[in-house]
Amino acid sequence: MAKRTSSFVCQNCGATYLRWQGKCDSCGAWNSIAEEQAATDATPIAQRTSRKGRVFPLESLTGTSEEAPRAKVGIAEFDRVTGGGLVPGSVLLMGGDPGIGKSTLLMQAAAALANGGHRVIYVSGEEAVAQVRMRADRLGLTSAPVELAAETNVEDIVATLASGKAPTLLVVDSIQTMWTETAESAPGTVTQVRSSAQILIRYAKRAGASVVLVGHVTKDGQIAGPRVVEHMVDAVLSFEGDGAHQFRILRAQKNRFGPTDEIGVFEMTGLGLAEVANPSELFLSNRDRGAPGTAVYAGMEGTRPVLVEIQALVVPTSLGTPRRAVVGWDNNRLSMVLAVLEARCGVKLGGHDVHLNVAGGFRISEPAADLAVAAALVSSLSGAALPADAVYFGEISLTGAVRPVSHAPARLKEAVKLGFSRAVIPSPAARENGGREAPDTAIATSRVASLGELVADIAANAPKRPRAVPQDG
Ligand code: TYD
Ligand code: MG
Repeated sequence: MAKRTSSFVCQNCGATYLRWQGKCDSCGAWNSIAEEQAATDATPIAQRTSRKGRVFPLESLTGTSEEAPRAKVGIAEFDRVTGGGLVPGSVLLMGGDPGIGKSTLLMQAAAALANGGHRVIYVSGEEAVAQVRMRADRLGLTSAPVELAAETNVEDIVATLASGKAPTLLVVDSIQTMWTETAESAPGTVTQVRSSAQILIRYAKRAGASVVLVGHVTKDGQIAGPRVVEHMVDAVLSFEGDGAHQFRILRAQKNRFGPTDEIGVFEMTGLGLAEVANPSELFLSNRDRGAPGTAVYAGMEGTRPVLVEIQALVVPTSLGTPRRAVVGWDNNRLSMVLAVLEARCGVKLGGHDVHLNVAGGFRISEPAADLAVAAALVSSLSGAALPADAVYFGEISLTGAVRPVSHAPARLKEAVKLGFSRAVIPSPAARENGGREAPDTAIATSRVASLGELVADIAANAPKRPRAVPQDG
């Protein structure tokens, strides 16, 4: 007989406590602990463990496992992020802000796969079937043989699926709306979400179906509630973007079957999400050519080069402590570049506010952007515009040296493709790439060994006015 007890569960990380407390000791979240009913098995532990274990055969690494091939969805940007298509029996969690386009993307993926002859089931726990149809209608996908349902009970979903041919793809939109009879707490609680996810994962492995779970994201960007679900699934993708821009980025945060540094770029249009095959063109489309304070950075996202514009504004401050505002880059990294400029190149920025923005709402995580950031900063301070046909990349060390970065040939190739004719890059870059010279002679490379050289170059072009860089020696 099951005895009803209640326990207190952190809705953020799933840690359980005997009594309520204000802060979760496990993840540090405040006010995240809620009371949940838990059914406990009344059988004494001694009796429960008395069962004799079953003996199972152990296998070697070299065995052959017949693996069904990955199911390519047919949306190249999506397939790239999953590592080449959906793996049978795998479970993928897709997180993202409300309204970013998760349901739209998954409906498009479902339709593309169904049109390719696969069985695809789309279960919505948030919208009625008519609403899902309306979206499909807007996307022009009503002819795709996707099977729809508006359901929230996982037992019912699994029973329905088990009665027919296993689908290639099951989309569950969203995991937070699912509930199971095996957990006693209310729908939406961490226990319910975890148990529901467990049942769906077990189904996926047993039936060899790929399951995509949609997960909501909290204000600070975590997949809401069940961080625990992130550990259970095979891949976690996040769909990002901001309200001000049309483009969306699909990123893999965890992937047991593929790389985690690839991105997929989409543009939200009136007809759903369109693939952006050349993101650099999109990010550079509204460039202010010839304005001081902007530099084009040749970056890499996974195996793909991406060119973005970095904008800096350096203005005399009216505050005691100058402002350092960064959008799209790491704050600490900016502090480091400012410190190196100050200490190694004599560029005094202590009396200036610094605003740094990566154009288009893109986010950069590579240290290779250091050189482009420094160029934009010095250009803004000195009022000297950088050449409009130049790209920059290179990592800056604390000594002021400019260090080579990986994938230099790919970065240069992309710059050539987009019509750039000059690149300011670290000096030993060729040696770094196994002695090979840059692949394109179409681009003139000027190699800088230290940040000082870059500052001197820019300052040489500065208009002659009292505020020119460096301010004093
Ligand atoms: P949706 O996929 O419902 O977002 P999520 O599931 O992540 O909450 O997308 C909702 C937004 O997308 C909505 O604000 C309108 C916009 N949208 C378009 O701009 N074009 C379209 O064709 C569709 C279907 C949606
Ligand atoms: Mg949705």
